[in-house]
Amino acid sequence: MSVTINWAQCHTRPLLMIPGPTELAPPVIQALNQPPTIQYDRSFDEGVLEPTTLALREVFKTKGEVILMPGSGRTALESSALSIIEPGDRVLVIGAGQFGVLMREIMNRVGAGLTEFTTELGQPLDLKRLATEAERLRPKAITLVHNETSTGTTYPAAEVGRIARSVGALFLLDTVSSIAGIDVRTDEWGVDLNMTGSQKCLAAPLGLALVAVSPRAWQVMERRQRPASSWAYDLLRWKELWIPESRGGRVKDGAPRRQPVSMPTHLTAAMQVAVRLILEEGLAHRFRRHEVAAAALRSGVQAMGLDMFPHPSLWSNTVSSIKAPTGVETGAVVTRMRDQYGILIGTGLDKIRATTLRIGTMGITASPHYVLPTLGALELTLRDLGYKCEPGAGVAAAQQTFADAS
Ligand SMILES: Cc1ncc(COP(=O)(O)O)c(C=O)c1O
Repeated sequence: MSVTINWAQCHTRPLLMIPGPTELAPPVIQALNQPPTIQYDRSFDEGVLEPTTLALREVFKTKGEVILMPGSGRTALESSALSIIEPGDRVLVIGAGQFGVLMREIMNRVGAGLTEFTTELGQPLDLKRLATEAERLRPKAITLVHNETSTGTTYPAAEVGRIARSVGALFLLDTVSSIAGIDVRTDEWGVDLNMTGSQKCLAAPLGLALVAVSPRAWQVMERRQRPASSWAYDLLRWKELWIPESRGGRVKDGAPRRQPVSMPTHLTAAMQVAVRLILEEGLAHRFRRHEVAAAALRSGVQAMGLDMFPHPSLWSNTVSSIKAPTGVETGAVVTRMRDQYGILIGTGLDKIRATTLRIGTMGITASPHYVLPTLGALELTLRDLGYKCEPGAGVAAAQQTFADAS
């Protein structure tokens, strides 16, 4: 009797090759499996939370404070927006995809006087036109999504930071899918609020929002006419309640202090381990690893006859957006690959949902260990769905890229 094999059957869960949440290293998972600690206990505050935020400064490349909060990337975006924007403040939102739209919606909710600066999906920004627009508007803040996860594109944050500075605007940067995978230089680029989440290249569990705050951003918060409308997510309350005087805050050094919102202790402990692993690896090594893994993935899909969606100058090292072959449904690729081969990738979002696929190379998955099986499974899946390409071509090309980089 012939048996049809389901290769996913022997796995208890699919391998996550989506653009976040991403796979976790075993020591990070182990940090979650501990009895509860009390979030207001001094040992947690001083032994876990504070050292984690101080270590994160290295990852963010900032001398300023990194605030950790319960939530996700969008909590970081929203708490940043509500902390510095007052109703009617002019904000220039750069939109190059779904996450630019998210920033626009958040700014709308906090009552910003909004101007959108958009670009075609997957295409470069016209920096000259942006500079002219910024000069004309003189906004209080300019926002950019560094790595637009919906289109697999990395935008020139340093240049946009320069434009923001030249018109005296605060620079708000969404680094949800770039930090710890692509070099992000908070201070050097003049980023005032660097906003991200825990579950992508930081390779920690989903559930924490992170914001690096510049001295300028604190000043703007302190000079507000009215306090921010959120109690738990007003960033200024961290300065008032938690940051010691020696670091520019309002709490006497060594005095008991409170966190403005109860911190999830397990997630913070897991973040502490994730940050330790990042710093032990070294940032330069980590960025190079993401760069080579993404290049290998791209050479693999191209050898299979597929094209990348975005303009080549913008190809991201953490998320690859790939045009699906004509006539092949992206939803069917994702389902077949997960159910038959045990590897989960994503479709594109919104307007390019039906025409693109997205594969993450984030944290530990930016490695041959994950990229090569993903390409193999993608090829098998496409073959099952009627697409023809030379067997093994994708894996061979990716292997060559890895070999050349070693
Ligand atoms: C660039 C970007 N910004 C914001 C978000 C929203 O983050 P979260 O899903 O963690 O709330 C995402 C999520 O994928 C993202 O990729």
